[in-house]
Amino acid sequence: MPPPDPEDGGLALPDYLDRIRHKGLRDLVVSADQAAALIKDGMVLGMSGFTRAGEAKAVPLALAERAKREPLKVTLMTGASLGNDLDKTLAEAHVLSRRIPFQSDPALRRAINAGEVMFIDQHLSETVEQLRTRQIPGVDLAIIEAVAITEEGGIIPTTSVGNSASFALLAPKVIVEINTSQPLALEGMHDIFIPTYRPARMPVPVVSPQSRIGLPYIPIPPERIAAIVISQKHDSASNILEPDEDTRAIAGHLTEFFKHEVAQGRLTNQLAPLQAGIGTIANAVLHGLIDSPFHDLTMYSEVLQDSTFDLFDSGKMVFASGSSLTLSPAKGASVMPRLAEYKSRLMLRPQEISNHPEVVRRLGIIAINTALEFDIYGNVNSTHVMGTQMMNGIGGSGDFARNAFMSIFVTKSMAKGGRISSVVPMVSHVDHTEHDVDILVTEQGLADLRGLAPRERARVIIENTVAPEWRDLLRDYSARATERGGHTPHLLEEALSWHDQLRRTGTMKPE
Ligand code: COA
Repeated sequence: MPPPDPEDGGLALPDYLDRIRHKGLRDLVVSADQAAALIKDGMVLGMSGFTRAGEAKAVPLALAERAKREPLKVTLMTGASLGNDLDKTLAEAHVLSRRIPFQSDPALRRAINAGEVMFIDQHLSETVEQLRTRQIPGVDLAIIEAVAITEEGGIIPTTSVGNSASFALLAPKVIVEINTSQPLALEGMHDIFIPTYRPARMPVPVVSPQSRIGLPYIPIPPERIAAIVISQKHDSASNILEPDEDTRAIAGHLTEFFKHEVAQGRLTNQLAPLQAGIGTIANAVLHGLIDSPFHDLTMYSEVLQDSTFDLFDSGKMVFASGSSLTLSPAKGASVMPRLAEYKSRLMLRPQEISNHPEVVRRLGIIAINTALEFDIYGNVNSTHVMGTQMMNGIGGSGDFARNAFMSIFVTKSMAKGGRISSVVPMVSHVDHTEHDVDILVTEQGLADLRGLAPRERARVIIENTVAPEWRDLLRDYSARATERGGHTPHLLEEALSWHDQLRRTGTMKPE
Protein backbone atom coordinates (compact mmCIF):
# COMPACT_ATOMS: atom_id res chain seq x y z
CA MET A 1 0.00 0.00 0.00
CA PRO A 2 1.61 3.34 -1.00
CA PRO A 3 1.86 5.97 1.74
CA PRO A 4 -0.83 8.69 1.68
CA ASP A 5 0.18 11.68 -0.40
CA PRO A 6 -0.51 15.03 1.34
CA GLU A 7 -0.80 16.70 -2.08
CA ASP A 8 -4.02 14.93 -3.04
CA GLY A 9 -5.89 14.92 0.23
CA GLY A 10 -4.27 11.99 2.01
CA LEU A 11 -2.51 13.41 5.04
CA ALA A 12 0.04 11.36 6.91
CA LEU A 13 -0.92 12.76 10.29
CA PRO A 14 0.66 11.25 13.36
CA ASP A 15 -2.63 10.82 15.20
CA TYR A 16 -4.81 9.37 12.48
CA LEU A 17 -3.85 5.78 13.19
CA ASP A 18 -5.25 6.15 16.73
CA ARG A 19 -8.59 6.91 15.15
CA ILE A 20 -8.60 3.61 13.22
CA ARG A 21 -8.95 1.39 16.28
CA HIS A 22 -9.57 -1.78 14.24
CA LYS A 23 -5.92 -2.50 13.52
CA GLY A 24 -6.72 -4.74 10.54
CA LEU A 25 -8.19 -1.74 8.69
CA ARG A 26 -5.12 0.50 8.97
CA ASP A 27 -3.67 -0.87 5.72
CA LEU A 28 -6.69 0.48 3.85
CA VAL A 29 -5.54 4.10 4.12
CA VAL A 30 -5.16 5.54 0.63
CA SER A 31 -5.17 8.97 -0.97
CA ALA A 32 -8.44 10.63 -1.98
CA ASP A 33 -7.56 10.07 -5.66
CA GLN A 34 -7.02 6.38 -5.06
CA ALA A 35 -10.34 6.11 -3.22
CA ALA A 36 -12.18 8.09 -5.91
CA ALA A 37 -10.90 5.56 -8.47
CA LEU A 38 -13.43 3.12 -6.95
CA ILE A 39 -16.22 5.28 -8.37
CA LYS A 40 -17.45 4.11 -11.76
CA ASP A 41 -19.54 5.90 -14.36
CA GLY A 42 -23.28 5.52 -13.64
CA MET A 43 -22.88 4.59 -9.96
CA VAL A 44 -25.26 5.65 -7.19
CA LEU A 45 -23.23 7.25 -4.39
CA GLY A 46 -24.58 7.59 -0.85
CA MET A 47 -22.58 10.27 0.90
CA SER A 48 -22.64 11.69 4.41
CA GLY A 49 -23.53 15.37 4.84
CA PHE A 50 -26.51 17.22 6.21
CA THR A 51 -27.01 21.01 6.07
CA ARG A 52 -23.30 21.75 5.59
CA ALA A 53 -22.24 19.40 8.38
CA GLY A 54 -20.29 16.15 8.32
CA GLU A 55 -20.02 15.65 4.57
CA ALA A 56 -17.19 13.58 3.14
CA LYS A 57 -14.82 16.25 1.85
CA ALA A 58 -11.76 14.84 0.11
CA VAL A 59 -13.22 12.07 -2.10
CA PRO A 60 -15.93 14.22 -3.79
CA LEU A 61 -13.28 16.81 -4.68
CA ALA A 62 -11.13 14.08 -6.20
CA LEU A 63 -14.22 12.86 -8.07
CA ALA A 64 -14.82 16.35 -9.51
CA GLU A 65 -11.17 16.48 -10.66
CA ARG A 66 -11.49 13.07 -12.30
CA ALA A 67 -14.64 14.18 -14.12
CA LYS A 68 -12.58 16.91 -15.82
CA ARG A 69 -10.39 14.22 -17.42
CA GLU A 70 -12.90 11.51 -18.31
CA PRO A 71 -16.66 11.20 -18.92
CA LEU A 72 -18.21 10.41 -15.56
CA LYS A 73 -21.78 10.82 -14.29
CA VAL A 74 -23.17 9.67 -10.96
CA THR A 75 -26.34 9.87 -8.90
CA LEU A 76 -25.51 11.56 -5.61
CA MET A 77 -27.61 10.94 -2.52
CA THR A 78 -26.81 12.67 0.76
CA GLY A 79 -28.63 13.55 3.95
CA ALA A 80 -29.24 17.11 2.85
CA SER A 81 -27.14 20.06 1.60
CA LEU A 82 -23.32 19.95 1.53
CA GLY A 83 -20.72 22.41 2.75
CA ASN A 84 -17.29 23.29 1.38
CA ASP A 85 -18.91 24.28 -1.93
CA LEU A 86 -19.08 20.60 -2.84
CA ASP A 87 -22.45 20.80 -4.58
CA LYS A 88 -21.09 23.76 -6.57
CA THR A 89 -17.85 21.97 -7.46
CA LEU A 90 -19.65 18.78 -8.47
CA ALA A 91 -22.28 20.69 -10.49
CA GLU A 92 -19.60 22.70 -12.28
CA ALA A 93 -17.68 19.51 -13.05
CA HIS A 94 -20.93 18.21 -14.66
CA VAL A 95 -20.55 14.95 -12.77
CA LEU A 96 -24.07 14.86 -11.30
CA SER A 97 -26.82 13.25 -13.33
CA ARG A 98 -29.22 12.99 -10.40
CA ARG A 99 -29.23 14.59 -6.96
CA ILE A 100 -31.35 13.39 -4.00
CA PRO A 101 -32.94 14.64 -1.63
CA PHE A 102 -32.00 18.30 -0.82
CA GLN A 103 -29.51 21.02 -1.77
CA SER A 104 -29.08 24.72 -1.18
CA ASP A 105 -26.31 25.76 -3.53
CA PRO A 106 -26.79 28.52 -6.14
CA ALA A 107 -24.66 26.78 -8.83
CA LEU A 108 -26.40 23.43 -8.40
CA ARG A 109 -29.73 25.26 -8.27
CA ARG A 110 -28.94 26.77 -11.69
CA ALA A 111 -28.05 23.35 -13.10
CA ILE A 112 -31.28 21.90 -11.70
CA ASN A 113 -33.41 24.73 -13.08
CA ALA A 114 -31.68 24.41 -16.46
CA GLY A 115 -32.66 20.73 -16.52
CA GLU A 116 -29.03 19.52 -16.47
CA VAL A 117 -29.33 17.75 -13.13
CA MET A 118 -32.43 15.73 -12.29
CA PHE A 119 -33.24 16.71 -8.71
CA ILE A 120 -35.56 14.53 -6.65
CA ASP A 121 -36.93 16.86 -3.99
CA GLN A 122 -37.92 14.44 -1.27
CA HIS A 123 -39.20 14.41 2.31
CA LEU A 124 -35.96 13.83 4.20
CA SER A 125 -37.36 10.91 6.21
CA GLU A 126 -38.22 8.97 3.05
CA THR A 127 -35.02 8.47 1.08
CA VAL A 128 -33.67 5.49 3.00
CA GLU A 129 -37.14 3.93 3.31
CA GLN A 130 -37.28 3.89 -0.49
CA LEU A 131 -33.74 2.56 -0.72
CA ARG A 132 -34.33 -0.19 1.80
CA THR A 133 -37.41 -1.40 -0.04
CA ARG A 134 -35.65 -1.10 -3.44
CA GLN A 135 -38.18 1.42 -4.74
CA ILE A 136 -35.27 3.51 -6.05
CA PRO A 137 -31.91 2.27 -7.37
CA GLY A 138 -29.62 1.10 -4.55
CA VAL A 139 -26.40 2.70 -3.35
CA ASP A 140 -23.31 1.21 -5.04
CA LEU A 141 -20.79 2.99 -2.84
CA ALA A 142 -21.11 4.85 0.44
CA ILE A 143 -18.67 7.63 1.37
CA ILE A 144 -18.93 8.50 5.03
CA GLU A 145 -17.04 11.04 7.15
CA ALA A 146 -16.06 9.69 10.56
CA VAL A 147 -14.27 10.84 13.69
CA ALA A 148 -13.00 7.30 14.22
CA ILE A 149 -13.52 3.61 13.46
CA THR A 150 -14.12 1.40 16.49
CA GLU A 151 -12.20 -1.76 17.41
CA GLU A 152 -15.00 -3.78 15.73
CA GLY A 153 -15.01 -1.67 12.57
CA GLY A 154 -18.03 0.49 13.50
CA ILE A 155 -18.11 3.98 11.97
CA ILE A 156 -18.45 6.92 14.37
CA PRO A 157 -19.97 9.77 12.34
CA THR A 158 -18.99 13.43 12.79
CA THR A 159 -21.28 16.47 12.98
CA SER A 160 -24.20 14.87 11.18
CA VAL A 161 -25.83 11.48 10.90
CA GLY A 162 -28.28 12.23 8.10
CA ASN A 163 -28.65 9.14 5.93
CA SER A 164 -25.10 7.90 6.60
CA ALA A 165 -26.06 4.84 8.64
CA SER A 166 -28.40 3.36 6.03
CA PHE A 167 -26.08 4.27 3.15
CA ALA A 168 -23.22 2.43 4.89
CA LEU A 169 -25.38 -0.54 5.85
CA LEU A 170 -26.94 -0.93 2.39
CA ALA A 171 -23.91 -0.31 0.16
CA PRO A 172 -21.70 -3.23 -0.87
CA LYS A 173 -18.61 -1.02 -0.38
CA VAL A 174 -17.84 1.88 1.93
CA ILE A 175 -15.15 4.55 1.81
CA VAL A 176 -14.54 6.12 5.23
CA GLU A 177 -13.06 9.60 5.47
CA ILE A 178 -11.50 10.03 8.89
CA ASN A 179 -11.54 13.76 9.55
CA THR A 180 -8.96 14.63 12.19
CA SER A 181 -10.29 18.20 12.50
CA GLN A 182 -13.57 16.87 13.90
CA PRO A 183 -13.42 16.68 17.72
CA LEU A 184 -13.35 13.25 19.35
CA ALA A 185 -15.85 14.70 21.83
CA LEU A 186 -18.46 13.85 19.19
CA GLU A 187 -18.06 10.19 20.11
CA GLY A 188 -21.04 9.06 22.16
CA MET A 189 -23.34 11.80 20.86
CA HIS A 190 -24.86 9.70 18.07
CA ASP A 191 -27.79 7.34 18.45
CA ILE A 192 -27.93 5.01 15.45
CA PHE A 193 -31.22 3.15 15.14
CA ILE A 194 -32.53 1.47 11.99
CA PRO A 195 -36.21 0.45 11.87
CA THR A 196 -36.88 -3.25 11.49
CA TYR A 197 -38.16 -4.63 8.18
CA ARG A 198 -41.87 -5.00 7.41
CA PRO A 199 -44.23 -6.81 7.81
CA ALA A 200 -43.06 -7.23 11.41
CA ARG A 201 -41.86 -3.66 11.93
CA MET A 202 -41.79 -2.63 15.57
CA PRO A 203 -42.55 0.87 16.87
CA VAL A 204 -39.68 3.38 16.95
CA PRO A 205 -39.26 3.55 20.74
CA VAL A 206 -38.48 7.28 21.05
CA VAL A 207 -40.77 8.55 23.82
CA SER A 208 -38.94 11.80 24.63
CA PRO A 209 -36.23 13.89 22.93
CA GLN A 210 -33.76 12.30 25.37
CA SER A 211 -34.62 8.67 24.48
CA ARG A 212 -31.52 6.70 23.51
CA ILE A 213 -32.60 3.75 21.38
CA GLY A 214 -29.57 2.70 19.32
CA LEU A 215 -25.78 2.49 19.12
CA PRO A 216 -23.19 5.30 19.24
CA TYR A 217 -21.66 4.08 15.93
CA ILE A 218 -22.76 2.60 12.57
CA PRO A 219 -22.27 -1.17 12.90
CA ILE A 220 -21.02 -2.41 9.53
CA PRO A 221 -19.00 -5.55 8.83
CA PRO A 222 -15.37 -4.32 8.61
CA GLU A 223 -14.77 -6.25 5.39
CA ARG A 224 -17.16 -3.87 3.59
CA ILE A 225 -14.77 -0.96 4.19
CA ALA A 226 -12.95 -0.67 0.88
CA ALA A 227 -10.75 2.35 1.58
CA ILE A 228 -9.97 4.91 4.26
CA VAL A 229 -9.00 8.48 3.46
CA ILE A 230 -7.62 10.93 6.00
CA SER A 231 -8.79 14.52 5.79
CA GLN A 232 -8.50 17.64 7.86
CA LYS A 233 -10.99 20.00 6.22
CA HIS A 234 -13.39 21.78 8.55
CA ASP A 235 -17.15 21.88 8.10
CA SER A 236 -18.38 25.05 6.44
CA ALA A 237 -20.01 27.55 8.74
CA SER A 238 -23.72 28.19 8.37
CA ASN A 239 -24.67 31.21 6.28
CA ILE A 240 -27.60 32.42 8.35
CA LEU A 241 -27.92 36.14 8.93
CA GLU A 242 -28.26 37.91 12.28
CA PRO A 243 -31.83 38.54 13.50
CA ASP A 244 -33.22 41.82 12.09
CA GLU A 245 -36.23 43.99 12.92
CA ASP A 246 -38.63 41.77 10.94
CA THR A 247 -37.40 38.44 12.31
CA ARG A 248 -37.47 39.89 15.84
CA ALA A 249 -41.08 40.93 15.23
CA ILE A 250 -41.94 37.40 14.02
CA ALA A 251 -40.31 35.96 17.15
CA GLY A 252 -42.25 38.46 19.28
CA HIS A 253 -45.61 37.47 17.77
CA LEU A 254 -44.86 33.78 18.35
CA THR A 255 -43.77 34.36 21.94
CA GLU A 256 -47.01 36.22 22.66
CA PHE A 257 -48.96 33.42 21.01
CA PHE A 258 -47.22 30.77 23.14
CA LYS A 259 -47.97 32.82 26.29
CA HIS A 260 -51.62 32.89 25.26
CA GLU A 261 -51.59 29.10 24.77
CA VAL A 262 -50.11 28.67 28.25
CA ALA A 263 -52.78 30.99 29.70
CA GLN A 264 -55.44 28.87 27.99
CA GLY A 265 -53.94 25.69 29.49
CA ARG A 266 -53.07 24.19 26.11
CA LEU A 267 -49.32 24.39 26.76
CA THR A 268 -47.16 24.66 29.86
CA ASN A 269 -44.17 26.98 30.24
CA GLN A 270 -42.04 24.09 28.99
CA LEU A 271 -43.97 24.35 25.72
CA ALA A 272 -43.51 21.12 23.73
CA PRO A 273 -40.47 19.67 21.94
CA LEU A 274 -39.50 22.25 19.34
CA GLN A 275 -38.52 21.73 15.74
CA ALA A 276 -37.14 24.68 13.82
CA GLY A 277 -36.28 24.62 10.13
CA ILE A 278 -33.16 25.79 8.40
CA GLY A 279 -32.46 29.39 7.64
CA THR A 280 -32.25 32.82 9.11
CA ILE A 281 -35.87 33.27 10.09
CA ALA A 282 -36.37 30.00 11.96
CA ASN A 283 -33.06 30.53 13.80
CA ALA A 284 -34.13 34.05 14.80
CA VAL A 285 -37.49 32.79 16.06
CA LEU A 286 -35.83 30.29 18.41
CA HIS A 287 -33.34 32.94 19.49
CA GLY A 288 -36.34 35.05 20.51
CA LEU A 289 -37.24 32.49 23.19
CA ILE A 290 -34.22 33.56 25.24
CA ASP A 291 -36.18 36.58 26.46
CA SER A 292 -39.33 34.70 27.33
CA PRO A 293 -40.93 33.20 30.42
CA PHE A 294 -40.50 29.67 29.03
CA HIS A 295 -38.01 27.26 30.58
CA ASP A 296 -36.75 23.66 30.48
CA LEU A 297 -37.27 23.67 26.73
CA THR A 298 -36.37 20.71 24.55
CA MET A 299 -35.81 20.33 20.82
CA TYR A 300 -36.62 17.37 18.61
CA SER A 301 -35.46 18.79 15.32
CA GLU A 302 -33.26 17.97 12.36
CA VAL A 303 -30.71 20.76 12.17
CA LEU A 304 -29.38 22.31 15.37
CA GLN A 305 -28.27 25.88 14.65
CA ASP A 306 -26.74 28.69 16.74
CA SER A 307 -30.01 29.32 18.56
CA THR A 308 -29.89 25.87 20.19
CA PHE A 309 -26.60 26.75 21.89
CA ASP A 310 -27.80 30.26 22.76
CA LEU A 311 -30.77 28.64 24.50
CA PHE A 312 -28.46 26.17 26.31
CA ASP A 313 -26.18 29.01 27.43
CA SER A 314 -29.10 31.13 28.63
CA GLY A 315 -30.31 28.18 30.72
CA LYS A 316 -33.60 28.00 28.80
CA MET A 317 -33.03 24.69 27.06
CA VAL A 318 -32.28 21.36 28.69
CA PHE A 319 -31.91 18.96 25.75
CA ALA A 320 -31.72 18.97 21.95
CA SER A 321 -32.01 16.04 19.56
CA GLY A 322 -31.20 16.59 15.89
CA SER A 323 -29.48 15.11 12.87
CA SER A 324 -26.73 17.72 12.44
CA LEU A 325 -24.86 20.61 14.06
CA THR A 326 -24.56 23.60 11.74
CA LEU A 327 -23.07 26.68 13.34
CA SER A 328 -21.96 30.17 12.30
CA PRO A 329 -18.20 30.95 12.39
CA ALA A 330 -18.44 32.70 15.77
CA LYS A 331 -20.68 30.07 17.38
CA GLY A 332 -18.61 27.22 15.94
CA ALA A 333 -15.43 28.76 17.34
CA SER A 334 -16.94 29.00 20.81
CA VAL A 335 -18.87 25.69 20.87
CA MET A 336 -16.67 23.12 19.10
CA PRO A 337 -13.68 23.34 21.48
CA ARG A 338 -16.10 22.99 24.43
CA LEU A 339 -18.35 20.36 22.85
CA ALA A 340 -17.80 17.96 25.75
CA GLU A 341 -19.62 20.42 28.04
CA TYR A 342 -22.78 20.10 25.93
CA LYS A 343 -22.52 16.37 25.29
CA SER A 344 -25.02 15.18 27.90
CA ARG A 345 -27.61 17.56 26.42
CA LEU A 346 -27.20 16.66 22.73
CA MET A 347 -28.08 13.71 20.53
CA LEU A 348 -27.60 13.20 16.78
CA ARG A 349 -29.89 10.70 15.06
CA PRO A 350 -30.47 9.35 11.55
CA GLN A 351 -32.77 11.75 9.71
CA GLU A 352 -35.42 9.07 9.29
CA ILE A 353 -35.65 9.02 13.11
CA SER A 354 -35.25 12.77 13.76
CA ASN A 355 -38.05 13.32 11.21
CA HIS A 356 -40.05 10.17 11.80
CA PRO A 357 -43.79 10.82 11.42
CA GLU A 358 -44.59 8.34 14.21
CA VAL A 359 -42.24 10.09 16.65
CA VAL A 360 -43.25 13.61 15.59
CA ARG A 361 -46.88 12.74 16.30
CA ARG A 362 -46.07 10.89 19.56
CA LEU A 363 -43.96 13.68 21.04
CA GLY A 364 -46.43 16.41 20.05
CA ILE A 365 -43.92 18.65 18.38
CA ILE A 366 -44.25 22.38 17.77
CA ALA A 367 -42.91 22.61 14.22
CA ILE A 368 -41.65 25.98 12.99
CA ASN A 369 -40.69 26.11 9.31
CA THR A 370 -40.23 28.84 6.75
CA ALA A 371 -42.41 29.60 3.74
CA LEU A 372 -41.39 31.41 0.59
CA GLU A 373 -45.05 32.34 0.14
CA PHE A 374 -48.47 31.32 1.41
CA ASP A 375 -51.93 32.01 0.12
CA ILE A 376 -55.12 33.42 1.59
CA TYR A 377 -56.28 29.90 2.51
CA GLY A 378 -53.05 28.77 4.18
CA ASN A 379 -51.42 26.67 1.47
CA VAL A 380 -47.64 27.04 1.70
CA ASN A 381 -44.91 27.11 -0.96
CA SER A 382 -41.46 26.51 0.54
CA THR A 383 -39.55 25.45 -2.54
CA HIS A 384 -40.45 26.98 -5.91
CA VAL A 385 -39.91 30.66 -6.76
CA MET A 386 -42.64 31.66 -9.24
CA GLY A 387 -43.93 28.11 -9.17
CA THR A 388 -41.10 26.84 -11.38
CA GLN A 389 -37.62 27.70 -10.08
CA MET A 390 -36.30 25.35 -7.39
CA MET A 391 -34.87 27.11 -4.36
CA ASN A 392 -33.59 24.42 -1.95
CA GLY A 393 -36.17 21.67 -1.56
CA ILE A 394 -38.84 20.65 0.91
CA GLY A 395 -36.29 19.22 3.34
CA GLY A 396 -37.88 17.97 6.51
CA SER A 397 -40.56 20.62 6.65
CA GLY A 398 -43.24 18.22 5.36
CA ASP A 399 -42.20 15.40 7.69
CA PHE A 400 -42.84 17.72 10.61
CA ALA A 401 -45.71 19.88 9.35
CA ARG A 402 -47.98 16.97 8.53
CA ASN A 403 -47.60 15.30 11.91
CA ALA A 404 -46.90 18.11 14.36
CA PHE A 405 -48.99 18.99 17.38
CA MET A 406 -48.85 22.53 16.09
CA SER A 407 -47.60 23.34 12.60
CA ILE A 408 -46.32 26.90 12.23
CA PHE A 409 -44.96 28.62 9.12
CA VAL A 410 -43.09 31.91 9.27
CA THR A 411 -41.95 34.33 6.56
CA LYS A 412 -41.43 38.03 6.01
CA SER A 413 -44.55 39.53 4.45
CA MET A 414 -42.56 40.89 1.50
CA ALA A 415 -39.45 39.85 -0.42
CA LYS A 416 -37.00 41.55 -2.77
CA GLY A 417 -37.36 45.04 -1.36
CA GLY A 418 -41.15 45.00 -1.41
CA ARG A 419 -41.55 43.92 -5.05
CA ILE A 420 -43.02 40.61 -3.93
CA SER A 421 -45.83 39.94 -1.49
CA SER A 422 -45.27 36.66 0.34
CA VAL A 423 -49.03 36.43 0.81
CA VAL A 424 -50.74 35.79 -2.53
CA PRO A 425 -54.19 34.84 -3.82
CA MET A 426 -53.01 31.32 -4.73
CA VAL A 427 -49.56 29.82 -4.17
CA SER A 428 -47.70 29.05 -7.37
CA HIS A 429 -46.58 25.65 -6.00
CA VAL A 430 -47.89 23.71 -2.99
CA ASP A 431 -45.59 21.98 -0.52
CA HIS A 432 -47.85 22.11 2.54
CA THR A 433 -51.55 22.07 1.99
CA GLU A 434 -53.99 24.09 4.09
CA HIS A 435 -54.72 20.84 5.95
CA ASP A 436 -51.19 20.75 7.38
CA VAL A 437 -50.89 24.40 8.40
CA ASP A 438 -52.14 25.69 11.77
CA ILE A 439 -50.43 29.04 12.31
CA LEU A 440 -48.92 31.60 9.92
CA VAL A 441 -46.66 34.40 11.12
CA THR A 442 -45.09 37.40 9.42
CA GLU A 443 -43.63 40.54 10.96
CA GLN A 444 -47.15 42.02 10.57
CA GLY A 445 -48.77 39.52 12.92
CA LEU A 446 -50.04 36.00 13.45
CA ALA A 447 -52.95 34.12 11.89
CA ASP A 448 -54.31 31.27 14.00
CA LEU A 449 -56.10 29.04 11.50
CA ARG A 450 -57.06 26.22 13.82
CA GLY A 451 -60.73 25.32 13.51
CA LEU A 452 -61.38 27.77 10.69
CA ALA A 453 -63.01 27.09 7.31
CA PRO A 454 -61.43 28.53 4.15
CA ARG A 455 -63.57 31.70 4.04
CA GLU A 456 -62.71 32.41 7.70
CA ARG A 457 -59.05 31.62 7.08
CA ALA A 458 -58.88 34.17 4.26
CA ARG A 459 -60.14 36.95 6.55
CA VAL A 460 -57.73 36.10 9.40
CA ILE A 461 -54.74 35.76 7.07
CA ILE A 462 -55.41 38.98 5.15
CA GLU A 463 -56.07 41.09 8.26
CA ASN A 464 -53.11 39.78 10.30
CA THR A 465 -50.18 38.82 8.09
CA VAL A 466 -50.20 40.97 4.95
CA ALA A 467 -48.10 44.13 4.51
CA PRO A 468 -50.34 47.25 4.47
CA GLU A 469 -49.57 48.10 0.81
CA TRP A 470 -50.88 44.71 -0.33
CA ARG A 471 -53.81 44.33 2.05
CA ASP A 472 -56.46 46.15 -0.01
CA LEU A 473 -55.50 44.20 -3.12
CA LEU A 474 -56.03 40.90 -1.31
CA ARG A 475 -59.25 42.14 0.37
CA ASP A 476 -60.54 43.06 -3.08
CA TYR A 477 -59.54 39.69 -4.61
CA SER A 478 -61.10 37.78 -1.75
CA ALA A 479 -64.34 39.77 -1.85
CA ARG A 480 -64.81 39.26 -5.60
CA ALA A 481 -63.92 35.56 -5.36
CA THR A 482 -66.35 35.07 -2.47
CA GLU A 483 -69.09 36.71 -4.50
CA ARG A 484 -68.57 34.07 -7.18
CA GLY A 485 -68.88 31.39 -4.51
CA GLY A 486 -67.37 28.06 -3.58
CA HIS A 487 -66.02 26.41 -0.45
CA THR A 488 -62.59 27.85 -1.29
CA PRO A 489 -63.47 30.83 -3.48
CA HIS A 490 -61.10 31.78 -6.30
CA LEU A 491 -61.09 33.75 -9.51
CA LEU A 492 -59.26 31.16 -11.58
CA GLU A 493 -58.41 33.61 -14.34
CA GLU A 494 -56.74 35.90 -11.78
CA ALA A 495 -55.42 33.56 -9.10
CA LEU A 496 -51.84 33.45 -10.42
CA SER A 497 -51.90 36.91 -12.02
CA TRP A 498 -49.62 38.33 -9.31
CA HIS A 499 -46.90 35.89 -10.29
CA ASP A 500 -47.46 36.55 -13.96
CA GLN A 501 -47.19 40.28 -13.30
CA LEU A 502 -43.89 39.65 -11.46
CA ARG A 503 -42.58 37.60 -14.39
CA ARG A 504 -43.45 40.33 -16.89
CA THR A 505 -42.56 43.47 -14.95
CA GLY A 506 -40.32 42.50 -12.03
CA THR A 507 -42.92 43.39 -9.44
CA MET A 508 -46.24 41.96 -8.27
CA LYS A 509 -47.62 45.50 -7.95
CA PRO A 510 -50.28 46.25 -10.58
CA GLU A 511 -49.20 48.58 -13.43
N1 COA B 1 -40.56 34.94 -3.83
C1 COA B 1 -39.29 34.94 -4.30
N2 COA B 1 -38.20 34.91 -3.51
C2 COA B 1 -38.42 34.90 -2.17
C3 COA B 1 -39.70 34.92 -1.62
C4 COA B 1 -40.81 34.93 -2.51
N3 COA B 1 -42.05 34.92 -2.06
N4 COA B 1 -39.59 34.91 -0.27
C5 COA B 1 -38.28 34.89 0.01
N5 COA B 1 -37.57 34.88 -1.14
C6 COA B 1 -36.11 34.85 -1.28
C7 COA B 1 -35.44 35.87 -0.40
O1 COA B 1 -35.44 37.14 -1.04
C8 COA B 1 -34.04 35.29 -0.27
O2 COA B 1 -33.37 35.53 -1.48
P1 COA B 1 -31.78 35.77 -1.53
O3 COA B 1 -31.19 34.45 -1.13
O4 COA B 1 -31.53 36.12 -2.97
O5 COA B 1 -31.52 36.87 -0.56
C9 COA B 1 -34.31 33.78 -0.20
O6 COA B 1 -35.63 33.60 -0.75
C10 COA B 1 -34.27 33.21 1.21
O7 COA B 1 -35.21 33.87 1.99
P2 COA B 1 -34.94 34.41 3.46
O8 COA B 1 -35.99 35.42 3.74
O9 COA B 1 -33.51 34.85 3.59
O10 COA B 1 -35.27 33.14 4.37
P3 COA B 1 -34.49 31.86 4.84
O11 COA B 1 -33.02 31.94 4.76
O12 COA B 1 -35.06 31.58 6.17
O13 COA B 1 -34.94 30.72 3.76
C11 COA B 1 -36.47 29.22 2.67
C12 COA B 1 -36.28 30.52 3.45
C13 COA B 1 -37.96 28.98 2.46
C14 COA B 1 -35.78 29.31 1.29
C15 COA B 1 -35.80 28.06 3.49
O14 COA B 1 -36.32 28.07 4.79
C16 COA B 1 -36.06 26.70 2.87
O15 COA B 1 -35.37 26.29 1.95
N6 COA B 1 -37.09 25.99 3.35
C17 COA B 1 -37.47 24.69 2.81
C18 COA B 1 -36.80 23.57 3.55
C19 COA B 1 -37.24 23.51 4.97
O16 COA B 1 -38.18 24.15 5.41
N7 COA B 1 -36.61 22.71 5.78
C20 COA B 1 -37.04 22.64 7.17
C21 COA B 1 -36.62 21.52 7.86
S1 COA B 1 -34.87 21.82 8.25
